[in-house]
Amino acid sequence: IRVLFVTPEVFPLCKTGGLGDVSAALPVALRALKMDARLLLPGYPAVLAGLKSRRKVATFDLQPHFPPATLLSSRLQINESVSVPLYVIHCPALYQRTGGIYLDDTGQDWPDNAQRFGLLSKIGALLASDASPLAWVPDIVHCNDWQSGLTPAYLHFHSGKKAASLITLHNLAFQGNFPSDEVAKLGLPDESFSMHGAEFYGNLSFLKAGIYYSDHISTVSPGYAREIQQEPLGFGLQGLLAKRSDDITGIVNGIDTAIWNPATDPYLVKKYTSRNLSAKAANKLALQQTMGLENNQAIPLFGTVSRLTHQKGSDIMLQVAPMLADLPAQLALLGSGDALLEQQLAALAQAFPTKIAVRIGYDEALSHLINAGTDCFLMPSRFEPCGLNQMYSQHYGTPPVVHATGGLMDTVVDLTPETLADKSASGFHFHEMTADSFMEGIKRAINAYHNTRLWKNLQRNGMQKDFSWQASASAYQSIYSLLMQKNRPAST
Ligand code: ADP
Ligand code: GLC
Repeated sequence: IRVLFVTPEVFPLCKTGGLGDVSAALPVALRALKMDARLLLPGYPAVLAGLKSRRKVATFDLQPHFPPATLLSSRLQINESVSVPLYVIHCPALYQRTGGIYLDDTGQDWPDNAQRFGLLSKIGALLASDASPLAWVPDIVHCNDWQSGLTPAYLHFHSGKKAASLITLHNLAFQGNFPSDEVAKLGLPDESFSMHGAEFYGNLSFLKAGIYYSDHISTVSPGYAREIQQEPLGFGLQGLLAKRSDDITGIVNGIDTAIWNPATDPYLVKKYTSRNLSAKAANKLALQQTMGLENNQAIPLFGTVSRLTHQKGSDIMLQVAPMLADLPAQLALLGSGDALLEQQLAALAQAFPTKIAVRIGYDEALSHLINAGTDCFLMPSRFEPCGLNQMYSQHYGTPPVVHATGGLMDTVVDLTPETLADKSASGFHFHEMTADSFMEGIKRAINAYHNTRLWKNLQRNGMQKDFSWQASASAYQSIYSLLMQKNRPAST
């Protein structure tokens, strides 16, 4: 099976969140199952700078809709022995600039994002059809989020042979909605701009186009697949999604255990496994020292790593942090995002210097140490399509307290007498999106923490769970096979 994986970000070249992690790990896992998966990515400066070698393999003249672009062929080096074929769209007019992937230096969306990701979508569609300039033509074009949402739309209006399309929804809150004059500018036919198409409340919606025109839809957990077919988590698209419910599959993400493994992690001061959990303590001390917290093995240390946004419940975290400090307990927080939340959290750290430590920014190394060095991880997301950190933390023997939503509910097993007995318990759920409910979850965790034997069981249960990509990759393989059967013309 040949798969073109169209994505706006990939670890380690360019990443703003979990989609970057998934875009690196899933193609590797697909290739391990003998599928020919290749990536398509925009050529931002960080991507071009990260390519070891590159070869120009095609030129696109898509004027007047898009500036001239070329296609580079390269490989994404995952580690010493594994790499994935990578196509990069080189279009200096759209991608060669300083700033973020989606935002400029002042935090505003790039004004030409419709063009920037319209081009990604367009070239995704071209490469997936008989209009492709390449000899390699995929059976499946696998799109991800709104940034590649127009690929299925362009393909729908292509009359020749084409690959079957799948769109994976990683986050429905980001929809890529643009003024209606973009329809013509992007070279989409007028008829696509309809309620039965890419139109969404008078705008052009990249995401709605993807959902409407793709052959199949997947989400990153079964829980989220159900939640988005209703309000409020459908974000206005619940009706369309419910109509397509037979074509929606929830597949939980895996984690890349070559990068996230406490037995081999180079960012830890001491590596450990479920058999020598006592070595974890050295990481707690190192984290307390690095972050300026009181060096104290006995006090429960909570950690969190996340974008600081409404989705992630950072506002609830802000309310709960001072209560935590009073318990007593400690908090190590790493994150960046909403400017006001950043300021408020930083102020809290100043008010409780030995109990609350806050690092604003993006720090891969520190995120590993927080997963290893804290006793318990916090993830109060309002909604969470899948979430990766609760899986990292369980794998690191750091049971999480999570809001019972989406992928958090699917991947963390709440501690109850039953789940303790059947050895599945691996963390704590709380049910209301309030500081009180979150605190209740935290207090349950602290009680359990003080019962050393119980806590070890929780840690081991989490560490022994299989979060590898293998199962997810075979679930995608089944969808691909089904789509290919449907896509085959009746005569062959
Ligand atoms: P989302 O994609 O919604 O942000 P996920 O849990 O799927 O949520 O993925 C977030 C990823 O980004 C994880 O790998 C997490 O460790 C990482 N991450 C988020 N914020 C930071 C940060 N400030 N520093 C380092 N890594 C971060
Ligand atoms: C999105 C979601 C997150 C998910 C990630 C990867 O960013 O917010 O829950 O884990 O995509 O699928």
